[in-house]
Amino acid sequence: MDEQIPSAFVFSNRTIGLILPILKMKRLGVLTSGGDAPGMNAAIRAVVRTAAFHGKQAVGIRKGFQGLIDGECMELNARSVRNILNQGGTFLKSARCAQFRNAEGRKKAFQQIEKAEIDALVVIGGNGSFTGAHLLHKEFGLPVIGIPGTIDNDLFGTDYTLGYDSATNVVVECIDKIRDTASSHNRLFFVEVMGRDTGFIALRTAVATGALDVVLPEKNSSMDELISEVEKSFANRKTSNIIITAEGNHLGNTYDISKKIVERFPHIDTKVTILGHLQRGGAPSCMDRILASKLGVSAVEAVLEGKSDVMCGVENQDVTFTPLEKAISQKVELNMDLLRISRILAT
Ligand code: F6P
Repeated sequence: MDEQIPSAFVFSNRTIGLILPILKMKRLGVLTSGGDAPGMNAAIRAVVRTAAFHGKQAVGIRKGFQGLIDGECMELNARSVRNILNQGGTFLKSARCAQFRNAEGRKKAFQQIEKAEIDALVVIGGNGSFTGAHLLHKEFGLPVIGIPGTIDNDLFGTDYTLGYDSATNVVVECIDKIRDTASSHNRLFFVEVMGRDTGFIALRTAVATGALDVVLPEKNSSMDELISEVEKSFANRKTSNIIITAEGNHLGNTYDISKKIVERFPHIDTKVTILGHLQRGGAPSCMDRILASKLGVSAVEAVLEGKSDVMCGVENQDVTFTPLEKAISQKVELNMDLLRISRILAT
């Protein structure tokens, strides 16, 4: 008589295809790279604890790709990441690594990956970090997954990157304080915010602080336009004004922009504040902690299911996966309607 196989033990090829990579992967590497961003620690915690939850060993790599080349790997368990959810910066440390840009550097890194028996790598970072992760996958077949971590919010395939919300909250807090002096002394303040190539921080905070104008890398503003906004503010009998400049704007250095305004309006008391790295520090906001937790869990589960060479992001509240090459190369558009809103409300 034929023995019947209980249906509970009959697996389709698809199920076997899904289960095999999960069983094969034993050790998951995680690193932070590029500029630090609030929420990176929360993401590391989520990656390590999700790996542990699924019975995998997490391996932390210190100092980004530089640490990978130098073999700075350490095993992490759920307890190793206690009390970091609320910490700014990254306890794994970060670096911008020139050596990783050449093939020789990447080969050394891969040798360390083999030595540490890392089966897949989670990279938390921005554009440059994802370029590195993509090359590791392309050149050595290593499964990689990216979690967007940069205050600039300039990655395609996610509505928000880790750190963007926290950084903009810092900017808003600082400008609110500057506003007190601007209004007490009838001054015009230029406030420079971060954003080498994009004006996400500048535009969002312009609306949130009621700035008179904002100078963005994405827009070819002219000095004449800026002068006309200042003239309008006089006509509207405004006494204090804030103009936000993104560091990568087309008009150039914020001190030079301010100088040109002073030449045109010598009677205005004008000051410049460069917020700089203040914006990158401090505890992550509630939104960044939740984003980091969501993306950390999803990234690990995705890589265990066999996804690779993709960035795990969030679009319209849903977790989505975008090929790393696309996340890096496709331009993220600023919502220019916010500029219109900002100008209407600045009158
Ligand atoms: O990419 C994030 C960012 O903070 C940019 O806004 C800024 O231009 C850059 O990093 C500064 O980098 P660093 O801290 O290496 O000088």
